[in-house]
Amino acid sequence: MNPISPSRLPLLQSASRVVPIVLALLAGPAFAADTTAAEQRDRWSVQAGAPDRVDAGRSFFTRTHGGEWSCASCHGNPPIAAGKHASTDKRIAPMAPAFNAQAFTDTAKTDKWFRRNCKDVLSRECSAREKADVLAYLLSLKP
Ligand code: HEC
Repeated sequence: MNPISPSRLPLLQSASRVVPIVLALLAGPAFAADTTAAEQRDRWSVQAGAPDRVDAGRSFFTRTHGGEWSCASCHGNPPIAAGKHASTDKRIAPMAPAFNAQAFTDTAKTDKWFRRNCKDVLSRECSAREKADVLAYLLSLKP
């Protein structure tokens, strides 16, 4: 006897369509990697039309910009260990790619957080050059 009765087939067919979608949604945030930190640095250097600068990136990252916070307030100085959100204490994964394989591997995530954090710290978006410099600095940090 056939273990799958014909009346159950439509159910199975729709399950086979839904399951991959559900899996993709669950896996989404963890497996969205579509780039590397070096590729992102290069993307902004090209946009800026200027070479990226490690020292400028370090200074940008560690100083304040007219407000209370620097990037390092939440991400640490140097940002090679887990950071702590300056107001909520929430753990933040290390920013330097050599200390966190996931860092800067998801274009949408990077763009979202650059926009949000630059507004918090500078009251404006960061320029392409500033982002290239920050990435150059973060990539220069090695164990
Ligand atoms: C008030 C706390 C806070 C400050 C200040 C802050 N950040 Fe963040 N940042 C976060 C949090 C929280 C995340 C998300 C971490 C996660 O989900 O892994 C994040 C993530 C990021 C990411 C995403 C990294 C990636 O892997 O793509 C970038 C880029 C970033 N921050 C840049 C900056 C820069 C540049 C500054 C300074 C201008 C800054 N942040 C200041 C809290 C902060």
